[in-house]
Amino acid sequence: MEYKNITVTEKEEIVTLTINREKALNALNALTFTELNHFFSTEGPSRKGLRGVIVTGAGDRAFVAGADIKEFLDFGADGAAKVAKRGQDVFFLIERFHVPVIAAVNGFALGGGCELAMACHMRIAGEKAKFGQPEVNLGIIPGYGGTQRLIQLIGKGKAIELLTTGDMIKADEAYRLGLANHVVPAGEEVAKAMEIFDKIKQKAPIAVANVISCVNKYFEPGNDGFDYEVTYFGKTSNSADFVEGATAFIEKRKAEFKGE
Ligand code: COA
Repeated sequence: MEYKNITVTEKEEIVTLTINREKALNALNALTFTELNHFFSTEGPSRKGLRGVIVTGAGDRAFVAGADIKEFLDFGADGAAKVAKRGQDVFFLIERFHVPVIAAVNGFALGGGCELAMACHMRIAGEKAKFGQPEVNLGIIPGYGGTQRLIQLIGKGKAIELLTTGDMIKADEAYRLGLANHVVPAGEEVAKAMEIFDKIKQKAPIAVANVISCVNKYFEPGNDGFDYEVTYFGKTSNSADFVEGATAFIEKRKAEFKGE
């Protein structure tokens, strides 16, 4: 698929996916969702040797300033519910992606932008980043998982405060609440994400993928994450990389993982 609203570049086994609608502060419109869906369902999984994805926004003002408000009014109740479901499905693809996905939050992360950042596995905030779920200002509610993932990350009381006031918070507050993993000087968000990936790239790919899977199970109702961990511990220990990792430890050398 040829992309219009996102750009995808790969360097050292890490893809940087940039939401590229700078004039609209990278707001997520229907086409952007279609392209994100294609990358996380089709292109990304087929990229050989991929070890991570960084999601960021074009320019220096916004990560993503929300769902595209200009598309909103024509929806109707049924249409709006479908749009929310489509957005949630795309963000589930990100949350369940087989390699870590880091949001490099380089400015406004509002509404759908905050939800996109929260669907990623980690968030690096530039010091000018601002997070918020301002949907109540528009008379609606978050539709792409914001009411659920904000609680997961910062707890119920603070989540309800942010969701009902629509307040925007700065990077240092996002860090204090656990919404941002790190705060870095503006412009260094992607570099910090790369630094984290430099560490992850030394680890066994199957183990990393299975950690993501097990952690996600904690948040899926009806699943016993402990059982799942036992099963995946068994599966992971069956990998050639586990034999290599344990052997390398005993032989006091660096493990050479192959993702097998
Ligand atoms: N959807 C569509 N367009 C958006 C947008 C969104 N979520 N957020 C910003 N834009 C557009 C603006 O309409 C404007 O376009 P224009 O130049 O054609 O008029 C452009 O991006 C720049 O935004 P502007 O509002 O002029 O910048 P600002 O610096 O004054 O304010 C924000 C920045 C982020 C505070 C403000 O744009 C805003 O509140 N955006 C909406 C945030 C929101 O409610 N998101 C949740 C949606 S559910």
